[in-house]
Amino acid sequence: MTHSSSTQEVPAHGDVPRHVAIIMDGNGRWAKRQHLPRIAGHRRGVEAVRATVRACAERGIGYLTLFAFSSENWRRPQEEVALLMQLFQMALTNEVEKLHRNGVRLKVVGDTRRFDPSIRRAIEKGEQLTAGNKALTLTIAANYGGRWDILQAVNKAIREKKDFLDEKALAPHLAMSYAPEPDLFIRTGGEQRISNFLLWQLAYTELYFTERLWPDFDAAALDQAIASYRNRERRFGRTSEQLEAANRSEVA
Ligand code: IPE
Ligand code: IPE
Ligand code: MG
Repeated sequence: MTHSSSTQEVPAHGDVPRHVAIIMDGNGRWAKRQHLPRIAGHRRGVEAVRATVRACAERGIGYLTLFAFSSENWRRPQEEVALLMQLFQMALTNEVEKLHRNGVRLKVVGDTRRFDPSIRRAIEKGEQLTAGNKALTLTIAANYGGRWDILQAVNKAIREKKDFLDEKALAPHLAMSYAPEPDLFIRTGGEQRISNFLLWQLAYTELYFTERLWPDFDAAALDQAIASYRNRERRFGRTSEQLEAANRSEVA
């Protein structure tokens, strides 16, 4: 199924976001505040992931996308990168069964060619095992970059010998073509930037920033973000008056 594009038509949207995309930031600062090494923050971050996956499933959110490792995070000290890779591998092996039991479909987007073969095998196994699940689609963005995504899609379209690209030609090649565009974007840790996350897909997403550090994120924090989302007027280019008129005719 292809999903509608927010720039081609006004998408359907309701009180509960269909797709939530999160930049999980602040693990290092959380650890520093506790006088712990940065990796301790990343470990606690995995616990926040568990809680958030559960909370999203309970709230009927269809798609949850988590930015776990950006294409620029390779610039970090080698030791931190190595520990993050270990943690990713461990989380994949330990959590997939549980995700499967709970009806979660796992997807990983990003240039996975740069990962160790053992991580790539774990990704493939997890995706295959959970492919038929319908409750929640959990996407982990790993070695992901928004620019990489657009460029790999363009290159695939070129290989199809397309010499002119419109949205319809490009969209099926984007890494997350299986999902609707995010309704709600959350970034923890206080920074107000996109950091090369989903550049194409965030075109009309509601942005929510919180000072809370990722290891402290929980169901209540998610509910605060959703409450903020509910208060937004999603105009998609139209005027408020047009929306009011449309709502009136719906009620009538
Ligand atoms: C986010 O937390 C996790 C990753 C980027 C892997 P950080 O590690 O960026 O934490 P801060 O921003 O240094 O606090
Ligand atoms: C963004 O966090 C990437 C992830 C959460 C995986 P960073 O902490 O790497 O972002 P910048 O570098 O501060 O923008
Ligand atoms: Mg950070």
